[in-house]
Amino acid sequence: MAIIYSVTNQKGGVGKTTTCACLGAALAEQGYKVLLVDFDPQSGLTVCLGYDPASFNPTIYDSLINCEQYSLDKVIINTKIQNLSLVPSSLDLAGAEGELIGEIGWDRNLKDALAPVRNEYDFIFIDCPPSLGVLTTNALISADIVIVPVQTEYLALRGLKQLGDIIRKVRKKGNPELKMRILRTMHDVRTLHSREVVEELEKVFPDEIFKTIIRRTVKFADSSLAGVPIVLYAKSSEAAEAYRNLSKEVIEDAKKTIIERQGR
Ligand SMILES: Nc1ncnc2c1ncn2[C@@H]1O[C@H](COP(=O)(O)OP(=O)(O)OP(=O)(O)O)[C@@H](O)[C@H]1O
Ligand SMILES: [Mg+2]
Repeated sequence: MAIIYSVTNQKGGVGKTTTCACLGAALAEQGYKVLLVDFDPQSGLTVCLGYDPASFNPTIYDSLINCEQYSLDKVIINTKIQNLSLVPSSLDLAGAEGELIGEIGWDRNLKDALAPVRNEYDFIFIDCPPSLGVLTTNALISADIVIVPVQTEYLALRGLKQLGDIIRKVRKKGNPELKMRILRTMHDVRTLHSREVVEELEKVFPDEIFKTIIRRTVKFADSSLAGVPIVLYAKSSEAAEAYRNLSKEVIEDAKKTIIERQGR
């Protein structure tokens, strides 16, 4: 049964979508079966894998609103990358916030939609929008682990308090086992300030931080434009290696989580 990850930060442009695509591709490359769920109305993940979001019907929106009629297996596509599947999103998803709020169990719709396909994958990654609303709550309720990409920049820690509060609420109200992992992204080794933030994050989250740090490089923007994740676009680049290293940490962490799950 797949370990489910929610890749979440309400701050925009911190590398959520890039992390889903690159980590997913790095795991798929090693033979793991991976499902990527584009859960952002802006459809960044669908686009960065080389697809036009307008070309899909149904999409995650339909499964979220009515998973009996539009079961997720009708929405999943096999990407051009072996072992990597995608649930595309479209702009309709923006309307889901308003439609779900007030419904009974509004925060569990994604979990219900994922349940029937969970056995078919080793890893599922949900790419959240940059907000803390209905969609992000659904992702956090569904997940075993929330990965929080954090830019190693001034004020990076500020938004984490608000996200931490939501995570605590989710643990209390419906997903007590939810774990958090911090991923340092877009790191600029040249600045002292960036290095200070790296250390600060290590101090604040000693048990929750990934050792791998993703450095800032223009290669990511190039690979997004090409519609190919960096592990395939620039196979032997430092950036590709970083996401491969991260995938090794994720595999170890997943193994521990599976053992804990069996013990429960
Ligand atoms: N390590 C990195 N170095 C440089 N550029 C990066 C890095 N990671 C991602 N990028 C680029 O930064 C931009 C934002 O990244 P991405 O879309 O992954 O962020 P996001 O958190 O998903 O944004 P949003 O909140 O808008 O969905 C993209 O153009 C991406 O190619
Ligand atoms: Mg994104």
